Amino acid sequence: MKKTAPEPVATVQQEEHRVLLVEDDVGLQKQMRWALSPYIVDVAGSRLEALDKISAAKPYHVVVLDLGLPPDENSASEGLKALDEILNLTPQTKVIVASGNVERANAVRAVAKGAFDFVAKPLDSEVLKIIIDRAIRMHELEEENKQLREHSARATDGLVYGSEKMAQIAQVLDRVGPMDVSVMLIGETGTGKEVLARALHRLSPRNTQPFVAINCASIPENLLESELFGHEKGAFTGAIKRTHGKFEMADNGTLFLDEIGDMPLPLQSKLLRFLQERRLERVGGRESITVNVRLVTATNQKLEKLIAEGRFREDLYYRINDVRIDLPALREREGDPVLLAQYFLNGFNKTYSKHISGFTEDALAALSVHPWPGNVRELENRVKRAVIMAENKRITAQDLDLGDIKTGDRDLNLRKELAKVEKRLATEALALSDGNISKAAKLLGVSRPHFYSLIGHS
Ligand SMILES: Nc1ncnc2c1ncn2[C@@H]1O[C@H](COP(=O)(O)OP(=O)(O)OP(=O)(O)O)[C@@H](O)[C@H]1O
Ligand SMILES: [Mg+2]
Repeated sequence: MKKTAPEPVATVQQEEHRVLLVEDDVGLQKQMRWALSPYIVDVAGSRLEALDKISAAKPYHVVVLDLGLPPDENSASEGLKALDEILNLTPQTKVIVASGNVERANAVRAVAKGAFDFVAKPLDSEVLKIIIDRAIRMHELEEENKQLREHSARATDGLVYGSEKMAQIAQVLDRVGPMDVSVMLIGETGTGKEVLARALHRLSPRNTQPFVAINCASIPENLLESELFGHEKGAFTGAIKRTHGKFEMADNGTLFLDEIGDMPLPLQSKLLRFLQERRLERVGGRESITVNVRLVTATNQKLEKLIAEGRFREDLYYRINDVRIDLPALREREGDPVLLAQYFLNGFNKTYSKHISGFTEDALAALSVHPWPGNVRELENRVKRAVIMAENKRITAQDLDLGDIKTGDRDLNLRKELAKVEKRLATEALALSDGNISKAAKLLGVSRPHFYSLIGHS
């Protein structure tokens, strides 16, 4: 049967509350429908009809279930069965059982099975309404909680890794992300410093506020101060209006200072002053402005060395370094290159509408042995190139431009060299043991069959 009522328009703030009344008494159906008018009420006259309605529609918030359903209105068996089935189908639905001519004990059993509450028949529509209101509130709270859980960020979101080293870093991120501490990220180029900086922001209570990144190495020294701290109109030639710096833009959020090792010394002093006072002055201005930022910094340089050379302020180093995270190079993360390659392949398949299914054996081997001087960024670029260039279903080492022949050759040679050495040792051992194979094998610490294979017998 089609409903004649117009489809409810779902909006975010005002969701309609849907109630299913499972009741075989037609008079009661009518009366209840009327009493519960603010809700969208559907009715079902039997267990099967109820299940049909529940499977067809989007989940009901509340089901009011008469325990005494046909064929045997005087026993609760059909009702209890329906209860089990409803909770199986839509566990989030709140079921209120109604019991009249069946024993109250069954209502208690129903609640034990997971019903939200029970009401006695004859139904008092006021009481029922209060119970339904409560059930709906509970339902909403539970949904909200579920969404919060689903949406609550974890470091691992968007971070691909399988290695133990990165798993440890993810744990550190989860711990320090929500705390208002300065974090310094140290790692080679392309290791994912910016990815981590963003993860820290996402994990913090500041995540609805701006994340502002600035690369200290890419901006000429004379412009960097104004970029960071802003300037007043007329502060210098070309300063035609007051401009906010990155600090002000990041107010209440996170400021990511990339390549902090390249920050000129005078600016280091100004940054230190800001970190002590949490106030700044724009270039050419006198007004002192309070800014609330969480600082995340990154560098691929050895700051200790810069400090020793007098190029980085030691006091600043300690200020920006509440927590220091050292990112391992990709070649040190066992298993990650292959995982990341797979991940990037999926992404680029989508971007370029390709259907490449994976990597050949030689490509996987090449991914694992390549030293990755450009780390994850290099890997990403190679996979991108390969996806664009690949002519086959699977990406080869050649597609990745990872000298398949070179690594393969070196491997083979190594194995050959080893075999030669082994054979020489075996021969010597045999000579030392006067030709006694058992003794010779013992001398080399290998089994007899293994020894045979070493001297080239089978
Ligand atoms: N663990 C990871 N999972 C998924 N993608 C990653 C991961 N690490 C890095 N990437 C990707 O690799 C690229 C390089 O990462 P990112 O820019 O964070 O590196 P970086 O350390 O800041 O490099 P640089 O020092 O050159 O600035 C980006 O495209 C980033 O999305
Ligand atoms: Mg970077």
